[in-house]
Amino acid sequence: MVSDKKLHRMDEIIDEFRMRIKDSSRKEVFSDVFDTATLKALYELARKGFIDAMGGSVSTGKEANIFHAISKEKGEVAVKIYMMSTANFHAMKDYIIGDPRFVGIKQAKNDIILAWAKKEFKNLQRAKDAGVRVPEPYITRRNILLMEFIGKDGVPMPQLKEAKIKQEEAPLFFNKIVEYMTLLYRDAKLIHADLSEYNILVDIDTMSPVIIDMGQSVTTDHINAETFLRRDVDNIARFFKKLNVQVNEEKMMSMIKEVEK
Ligand SMILES: Nc1ncnc2c1ncn2[C@@H]1O[C@H](COP(=O)(O)OP(=O)(O)O)[C@@H](O)[C@H]1O
Ligand SMILES: [Mg+2]
Repeated sequence: MVSDKKLHRMDEIIDEFRMRIKDSSRKEVFSDVFDTATLKALYELARKGFIDAMGGSVSTGKEANIFHAISKEKGEVAVKIYMMSTANFHAMKDYIIGDPRFVGIKQAKNDIILAWAKKEFKNLQRAKDAGVRVPEPYITRRNILLMEFIGKDGVPMPQLKEAKIKQEEAPLFFNKIVEYMTLLYRDAKLIHADLSEYNILVDIDTMSPVIIDMGQSVTTDHINAETFLRRDVDNIARFFKKLNVQVNEEKMMSMIKEVEK
């Protein structure tokens, strides 16, 4: 298992990065998906046998693109590519030069790219170890994360938002999600920090939730841990209230944070 200290440090690096982007006046922060370095990394993954065939795009997001791919060993895999355009880093240069914490820009750039994909890998691994159903992470390389594909024949399972959960099924889903939040908090010592009906997929074969998108998840000792947990709780509560589930946010908070068992 990854040490709490190491994960905590990664959180800090990424928070610093986020702040710099916010400060930057440049607009085109994330533009080119496949810069040369990303292509090279994909090529490396293929050469090493982790990817045998690239499939189509599954999702295009603000910070990451998800592709479907096939590997002989694992079958269908999801390829998450964090977008790190060079323009982005040119804009950042001004903020990095002169900052004594960064010895060289190259180093900072590599650190950030690695931190991003690696952090999601480690968060997913910790969640999985704690018994939370998440995509199993396979490997990271540079800004690329390879993981289990939650879906079939290149089609991802639906997001909770789109899964048309029936009212009578809702309490089961709600309880399972709160159980996962508790396992995350208590055993993985993690808070998802972007939990909502968008970052939960529904395995329609077993009618059960799968938690995804853990790049931004933080350890429970993070300075904003309480705020993040509260926001996750509020998002889940809001969604299930609409399905007529009896929800009490305070109860959820105390259940999740009930560390002694
Ligand atoms: N492991 C996966 N298996 C199948 N589909 C996935 C997987 N990971 C992500 N996706 C698809 O891509 C979408 C975006 O992924 P996500 O990790 O939430 O990235 P973003 O940062 O863009 O929100 C998901 O809603 C889902 O449809
Ligand atoms: Mg997402």
